[in-house]
Amino acid sequence: MPTSKIAGIGCYIPENKVTNEDLKQYMETTDEWIQERTGIRERHYAHRTKETTTTMAVEASKIAIERAGITALDIDFIVFATLSPDYYFPGCGVLVQRALQMKEIGALDIRNQCSGFVYALSVADQFIKTGMYKNILVIGSEKHSFGLDFSTRGRNVSVLFGDGAGAVVLQATEKEGQGIISTHLHSDGQSAELLAMYNPGTHANHWVKEPVADYTDAAIGEMFMSEQMIDKAQNFPFMDGPAVFKKAIVKFPEVIMEALTKNRLTTADITILIPHQANLRISQFVQQKLALRNDQVFNNIQHYGNTTAASIPIALCEAWQQGKIKEGDLVCMAAFGSGFTWASALVRW
Ligand code: UT7
Repeated sequence: MPTSKIAGIGCYIPENKVTNEDLKQYMETTDEWIQERTGIRERHYAHRTKETTTTMAVEASKIAIERAGITALDIDFIVFATLSPDYYFPGCGVLVQRALQMKEIGALDIRNQCSGFVYALSVADQFIKTGMYKNILVIGSEKHSFGLDFSTRGRNVSVLFGDGAGAVVLQATEKEGQGIISTHLHSDGQSAELLAMYNPGTHANHWVKEPVADYTDAAIGEMFMSEQMIDKAQNFPFMDGPAVFKKAIVKFPEVIMEALTKNRLTTADITILIPHQANLRISQFVQQKLALRNDQVFNNIQHYGNTTAASIPIALCEAWQQGKIKEGDLVCMAAFGSGFTWASALVRW
């Protein structure tokens, strides 16, 4: 049975760097607060009109495809993870297919927020293991800056997020012991509303109790996105930060240990852990809990903020570019976020 190796990796960070100090022109915040609570020093925002989630993904994909030594015409399937798509529908996968002038291959979009890339990797891995596809383009990309509340009201969320993209070419290999060893996917919908963007949506308050606009009087066509929702900032992401933090620090170590235990490995076997970059304090907590050395954990949230589905492929790309990942190394990726969903993947490079 073939396994899936990461044959090429690329990332794209938009040029426009926004420091914590820069954010003070929009909201009441301080560099100290942001650095102390999150470790973030700066993030990058895509160009307002010239860059989209898909254009950034295309740039990252071109690099990944070139590094894999193939062309866009060799790609058999696209899996695209994002929570900030160019359109509500269709998804970004088809836009990549068009932009890279690929064959009429399948394109699948994944909506698993911070865990999106690990979910995408897992889905692609199944297609390769069954022999259905040989080269799959797996992407995580986000343009958060288009839709954050930059007033003081939204500061607990807006200071955290940044834009960027990462992509890998997952390729079938027959080489013994190389590639994805296992992936582990989880969800618990009990807390779906604790980290969510409710609108535009069709929920009509069915699930959401607070905080939500009362649109019983809204015209039927306005229920998807109304002025009232915009007035009450319900077109922006909502997060109960402390609740998410508490759950994250439990689920991250748990899903990493699940992957190791399943494969009779220990934390000492990990060459490098690439945690989803949600908060440097969460990564440090996980590192401490698992007794990992500094060189075993890669973080770059200081420079990019939380780029959701793009954070793992960007970090993986940077770690690889810095020579921190070599053939034979054991790489562990782990993510936790909205849903809640959480996931891990173990890869022998
Ligand atoms: O990737 C998806 C998963 N997301 C996460 O994993 C995020 C998990 N949560 C967190 O990382 C943290 O909860 C945050 C960094 C979001 C917030 O840190 P916290 O220590 O939990 O702060 P808090 O929300 O409890 O807020 C503490 C105070 C509040 O003021 P009062 O009520 O104590 O007067 C906030 O209004 O900090 C205030 N605050 C801010 N102050 C300055 C919130 N945001 C800001 C801000 N600047 N940007």
